[in-house]
Amino acid sequence: MKKLLIVATLLAILVIVMPAALTAAAPPAQGEDYIVQADDWLSKLADKFYGDVNAYWAIMSATNKAHAEDPSYAKIDNPDQIEVGAKLRIPSKEEAEAFMASFDPTMFNVGELFASGASGQLVVGSWWTAGGEAEGLNGMFEVYKQLYPDVEIVNATVAGGAGTNFKAQLATRLVGGAPPDTFQLHAGLEVETYSPEKYLDPVDDIYASEGLEEVFPPDLLQLLKYKGHYWGVPANIHRSNVLWYNKAVFEANGLTPPTTFAEFKEVADKLQAAGVQPFVIGTKDGWEAAHVFEDVLAGTLGADGYRGLWTGETSWMDPKVTEALENFKMMLSYANPDHPALTWDGAGEYLVSGKGGMMIMGDWTDGWFTSKGFTGYGWAPPPGTQGIFVALSDSFALPKDAPNKQNAINWLKVVGSKAGQEAFNPKKGSICARTDCDPALFNEYLQSAMVDWSKDAIVPSVVHGAAAIESWVTDYKDVITLFVASGDVASAQAGLQQACVDAGVCQ
Ligand code: GAL
Repeated sequence: MKKLLIVATLLAILVIVMPAALTAAAPPAQGEDYIVQADDWLSKLADKFYGDVNAYWAIMSATNKAHAEDPSYAKIDNPDQIEVGAKLRIPSKEEAEAFMASFDPTMFNVGELFASGASGQLVVGSWWTAGGEAEGLNGMFEVYKQLYPDVEIVNATVAGGAGTNFKAQLATRLVGGAPPDTFQLHAGLEVETYSPEKYLDPVDDIYASEGLEEVFPPDLLQLLKYKGHYWGVPANIHRSNVLWYNKAVFEANGLTPPTTFAEFKEVADKLQAAGVQPFVIGTKDGWEAAHVFEDVLAGTLGADGYRGLWTGETSWMDPKVTEALENFKMMLSYANPDHPALTWDGAGEYLVSGKGGMMIMGDWTDGWFTSKGFTGYGWAPPPGTQGIFVALSDSFALPKDAPNKQNAINWLKVVGSKAGQEAFNPKKGSICARTDCDPALFNEYLQSAMVDWSKDAIVPSVVHGAAAIESWVTDYKDVITLFVASGDVASAQAGLQQACVDAGVCQ
């Protein structure tokens, strides 16, 4: 009987103690090390030590912090991937609870997870100073700061849309061996102007480590490759060919956006009769008219004809180019007389105030309108470009002489990341270069751009570095600047032909 009692008591103790022993280890009082076994994963360990599957973030953070001081601890970049045999740091229950109380991955404080040890500066060169552009860049800075809180970011902007002033300064700094740590570079042939093999580092390793070839579309990857290497990590896709219009002005005059050049003239006449400046443009920085003209070329020659201009397949002496110049001349006859004094965003004020009807400009205008709180704008493809997407992409590059190279490499990883692109693009007025961003973060215009990007004929922008080498772009811009002043179609066409010859693409 006594024996039976003892056995029963032992059994009862086992029944009470066993499940706990099987499911939960005692939470470590001081924190302890743990070697990963087969069949371990972080949330299982978090459950085992703390009874909370989500507390795996605390283990990840403690392990990475330990790694910063002692590399025998694992470095965990991805909580779903821990190697058998890796050494982890299991924080005490108090430490884990304290960490979890302040940690919220949706608030981007994921920097807590990485003790990067990174410090010093990160000098970022760009020309993003206008509303929308600046906010977008700041959004990406925020993500970087979360990850590398001890790095001081220096925002080295040089104002001037399309990089008019920035690019010249950058070239001097690259050659002089004093570049920023990273700088804005259009995807495409623009890279040629910086002699990349001499002054830049290829960023192929970052593509490999971040899996970027899987998340960018093949056409973009092709545009980014020059002489067999990637030289920049793209942040976005912009559209050059957008006709922005003031919705209230159009409604008041019973107008819809023109789809042909003839319709453009009709709409412009009606706006003029109503006392509204029909077509607004700023030409102060010397690229804006050339920008509009690339969209007029695409709208007059069609996608293939336009593409051929930059490959030598379409002749610049083609009658269609004459027609494009005539179309552009007609549009300019409706333009605001103060255009030489205005930048692209200065001209945009006409639309915001309702004093202007239409403007053709890239979709950074969407970011700019949004930054101004202006919502009364509509959009449409400029005449003739329905189903055509004139595209460009901003990337960031890595100078060979970057003073803070590791910080720059970390920046490029942020630029290519989902968090970086989702923080940047909705404000910038561009869509992600990545294919996995959440469309719900983007406004109606940008959602429409995503749809068009996936189905339209994609052709490269020339003014924004995608289609041609920089010296050709400069010649092309100069011809168009002269044309805006002179209206001389024949000499502009001859000048465009000569620019193609000088670029070595035409005979
Ligand atoms: C483009 C650039 C855009 C936008 C625009 C106006 O060249 O790609 O991101 O900044 O200039 O500055």
